[in-house]
Amino acid sequence: MSEHIIDNPVVSTLLNRRSIRKFKNEAVDADTVATLETVAQHAASSQFLNDWSAIRVTDPEVKAKLAEIGHQDYIATAPLLYVFVLDEHRNSRIAAGKGVDVTADEYTLTSSYRYSQAQNDAVLALHAMETAAYGLGLGCVILGSLLNDVPALIELLELPERTYPVLGLAIGKPDQDPEVKPRMPRSMQFFENAYPADDENEDAFRADLAAFDETLHRYYDLREADRPVDAFSDQIAAVGVDQGVLNKPVLSPSEAQGFRLDR
Ligand SMILES: Cc1cc2nc3c(=O)[nH]c(=O)nc-3n(C[C@H](O)[C@H](O)[C@H](O)COP(=O)(O)O)c2cc1C
Repeated sequence: MSEHIIDNPVVSTLLNRRSIRKFKNEAVDADTVATLETVAQHAASSQFLNDWSAIRVTDPEVKAKLAEIGHQDYIATAPLLYVFVLDEHRNSRIAAGKGVDVTADEYTLTSSYRYSQAQNDAVLALHAMETAAYGLGLGCVILGSLLNDVPALIELLELPERTYPVLGLAIGKPDQDPEVKPRMPRSMQFFENAYPADDENEDAFRADLAAFDETLHRYYDLREADRPVDAFSDQIAAVGVDQGVLNKPVLSPSEAQGFRLDR
């Protein structure tokens, strides 16, 4: 019996999602903004700490500076632009208001566990917003490139102690129609009960990888529309040795932001 993908509006929105990097020069209306932000707030949150915030960037000068930090011009042209941050600043204020000593060594909301869970919360909220945006006919691109220069980003957005930037999200009406990017065979990414040992699945792994290399090499990224993208293996190999701009450590400044990643 062969499997098939069940179609419904949510599944269809998710399966047709692709990053949009060129937007129509049209503002996103207030009701849409309210809808997207409310959807993001309804994402799951670890221990219900709600430990993320998002900066809505509307000032063209700030957008331009973000584009500079990210080395991507389209950041400046995004009609709606957010920077999601993990946020234990607000919770520290709340706890301090209840008499908790938030500077004590035993204070837990600055721990590495909370840092990583707060990051998860921020990503889930961003993803909910992204999905809703596509559902409303908009397009998005997630922006990890803003972390190229974390200290500059912290300064620009005046991020207080116990916050840390996670990702940007640019949203607008699409002014391009890129192909949906192929994904690797499901068997390469989903395992049953345990992660298979390399020597258990080596032949199947290499065969699946070769097939995916071929498939991806037929895909055109509109950023370099005159040639197909490299095979997946070549992309992984190139990223693995690249010592360029995207390889600055992102964790060290977080300790300066008041987190205690050693505990
Ligand atoms: C964590 C994360 C960071 C990303 N950062 C950037 C970015 O800085 N600039 C960009 O153009 N795309 C960025 N992307 C988009 C990816 O390049 C894109 O999702 C991937 O190539 C798959 O293509 P698709 O989204 O069209 O399916 C990012 C995606 C994720 C999940």
